[in-house]
Amino acid sequence: MDRPIFYAHSGLRYLVLLAGVLAIAYFAFGLATKRPFDKVGRILGASFAGLLHLQVLLGLLVLATRFYYPQLIGHIVMMVLAAVIAQLGMSLNRRRPQPAWGLPLVGVLVAFVFIVGGIMAIGRGVFTTTAM
Ligand code: HEM
Repeated sequence: MDRPIFYAHSGLRYLVLLAGVLAIAYFAFGLATKRPFDKVGRILGASFAGLLHLQVLLGLLVLATRFYYPQLIGHIVMMVLAAVIAQLGMSLNRRRPQPAWGLPLVGVLVAFVFIVGGIMAIGRGVFTTTAM
């Protein structure tokens, strides 16, 4: 029973990372070209934050089905921080009278660093999968 959830959690990371790279590239392009923040930016940011939240949910299910060890604390703390920071970057930007690129860019960049750190906290590589 725990295998499909574990593999889903392991695999979804690639979608999260891809969404993060796309959002970073688009936000940086928008910032460099000084264009107004647009709908594509909103969709890319929301996709990254949404996939990250889904991954947190799957992670909690994995946690409930696998044995616990202390390094998992680093994984969990960094991932929860990543999800909060990514969401804050998008939500605060949306509430501004003039949404811009800087805040969501910083939010996704910092979240991305926490995600990489969170994966490394349990001794895994960003692109390695554990066979069960
Ligand atoms: C609160 C949120 C999260 C919890 C509770 C959680 C929990 C877990 C647990 C229990 C494991 C299994 C560790 C093991 O058996 O050695 C794991 C593995 C993993 N998690 Fe999470 N996780 C969370 C968030 C995330 C996020 C946001 C990502 C990436 C975007 C992520 C990526 C991974 C990866 C890559 C692995 C290793 C998979 C493999 O070895 O194939 N986790 N997580």
